[in-house]
Amino acid sequence: MPDRKLNDASVDSELARLVVDQKLATSPEVQPCLETHARLSAEGKPTPLGDVLVEAGVLTVGQLTRLRKALEETRGAQQIPGYRIESKLGSGAMAHVFKARQLRLDREVAIKILPRQLSENAEYVERFYKEGKAAAKLNHPNIVQAIDVGEAGPYHYFVMEYVEGPTLHDELELHKRFSEAEALRIVIQIARALEHAHKQGLIHRDVKPKNIMMTKDGRVKLADMGLARAATDEKAAQAEAGRAFGTPYYISPEQIRGEVDIDFRADIYSLGATLYHLVTGRVPFDGPTPAAVMHKHLKEPLVPPDHINTSLSAGIGEVVEVMMAKDRDERYASTSDLLLDLEAIQAGEPPLQARRQIDAKVLKGLATEAEPPEPQETAAPKLERNALAAIVILVAALAVSIVVNILFLVLLARP
Ligand SMILES: Nc1ncnc2c1ncn2[C@@H]1O[C@H](COP(=O)(O)OP(=O)(O)OP(=O)(O)O)[C@@H](O)[C@H]1O
Ligand SMILES: [Mg+2]
Repeated sequence: MPDRKLNDASVDSELARLVVDQKLATSPEVQPCLETHARLSAEGKPTPLGDVLVEAGVLTVGQLTRLRKALEETRGAQQIPGYRIESKLGSGAMAHVFKARQLRLDREVAIKILPRQLSENAEYVERFYKEGKAAAKLNHPNIVQAIDVGEAGPYHYFVMEYVEGPTLHDELELHKRFSEAEALRIVIQIARALEHAHKQGLIHRDVKPKNIMMTKDGRVKLADMGLARAATDEKAAQAEAGRAFGTPYYISPEQIRGEVDIDFRADIYSLGATLYHLVTGRVPFDGPTPAAVMHKHLKEPLVPPDHINTSLSAGIGEVVEVMMAKDRDERYASTSDLLLDLEAIQAGEPPLQARRQIDAKVLKGLATEAEPPEPQETAAPKLERNALAAIVILVAALAVSIVVNILFLVLLARP
């Protein structure tokens, strides 16, 4: 029982701190509630601080519910041995990320805690460990370093390098659009990160501005490499359609279709969609619902980025077109080919690899047009030819039969 009291007291003091940290109220506003809370306890009528705050009109019931949930999650993170949680860095649709200190090495890290519902999915957890370990073996200046994966109580967690700086999504909200040169500088670094991962057989599957972090020294890093998505791609694609997973602005058509053999070309498509957003200030396909956006990824032709922002070079338009081809066979044949083109346009040269892909597509189109006419069209003349042959044979047979008969009659008529 004393333990429980201690626990309640620490929950209350954390709650008071959180209310002030999140600017829901000021310290002078919270102070009288702390006093009431202490007085009620002394009078033998202990009341949770949260209820006192709501009673006093400092918090709404909704705010209290959200704060209690956040506190419970922080407590989950605090159960991770070897790390001390310092603050919350942010939340995505699936998980919460905390800044923590790795005690043995005395360094800052970021820890992502999986939600309980994913932790209960054995297939997902297996893939989470497998991909986490593979990612921890990668080492690249443009990849947020994966450090560890583990389990503490009911939670599974992913420890990674802490990056101090905004995400590309935050920057886009602020600046709306990037110059072609700046966009290329960013996308080239991410393409290098992907080239490295792809060579080791790792596919990211969720390249998007929210997973690109900008460091203080101007470098760009790809986050969540090796963070397995839902158990199968089909489930991931369906989950993506759910409101909780945000609008799928950058997802490839094959992921939407729930294909299982997702390869590096899905990452190239998503990086293309990111580049599109950077240089035009708009996502490539927008719509009122996730389903409408996904439908457009599958069916709607892309408005070329240089049609929206006419100051863009034609080269970047061609590169984005090839990166975002709906049929992955028409995209770049490798991430290294893509890098060659990105570096070429950065140097003011034409994107030769993209042109090769576009030429191949045109040739394929021409070849389809030049194919021989459909068999049905030749069927009728062929039938006529067969009928003619049959008639000739019949007439010939009849003629032979008449000649034979005449010969026979002549022979019979001889004396
Ligand atoms: N390694 C890191 N270092 C510092 N901050 C991080 C790190 N990883 C994530 N964050 C912060 O945590 C936030 C949540 O990250 P998370 O990956 O859970 O979601 P997301 O990528 O933003 O969105 P979604 O869930 O839609 O993919 C990020 O937006 C970022 O601000
Ligand atoms: Mg992320």
